[in-house]
Amino acid sequence: MPTYADALALFHVWTETDSLRRHGYAVEASMAEMARLRGGDVEAWRMAGLLHDLDYEKHPSLDEHPTVGVAELARLGYPEDVRTAILGHAPYLGVPRETDMAKALFAVDELSGFVTAVAFVRPDKLDGMTPRSVKKKLKDKRFAAAVSREDIRQGADELGIGLDELIQIVIDGMAREASRLDLA
Ligand SMILES: [Fe+2]
Repeated sequence: MPTYADALALFHVWTETDSLRRHGYAVEASMAEMARLRGGDVEAWRMAGLLHDLDYEKHPSLDEHPTVGVAELARLGYPEDVRTAILGHAPYLGVPRETDMAKALFAVDELSGFVTAVAFVRPDKLDGMTPRSVKKKLKDKRFAAAVSREDIRQGADELGIGLDELIQIVIDGMAREASRLDLA
């Protein structure tokens, strides 16, 4: 089975743009926090976060993303739960999110991007960021308009936690790895 170092090397080959790399790291950091809280295998959850958009730079269309990337992961021997979670983060594929890992990935994907956007407009970045301040931004439809508010809410529901708790987990996970996210 591939190691985390293998996953990181693969990610760097497929993903060259800084913003997409940062997004992978942000989702990975959120997944690590989720795994710690929910008793998941931290390394596997990290891989799911890091690799969920593996093919997005080269294959962004709906009929290729994320299936092309997942086919490559299968060829390389990545575990089934990681691959199924990655398929599950693309709602249009209709792959059910049955595991905690899959539910967590869907829940933190859009939100990690949103928290990144909020951090970039705050002088203190992630320092002192609260769920309340993030929710205020969520209500502003023009801010990070591409982020689906509906997916974030649905993600919290599927995990059986409140929106505040989900936001706090993402903030905490990303804060632990802030320097890697250029948010230190
Ligand atoms: Fe993503």
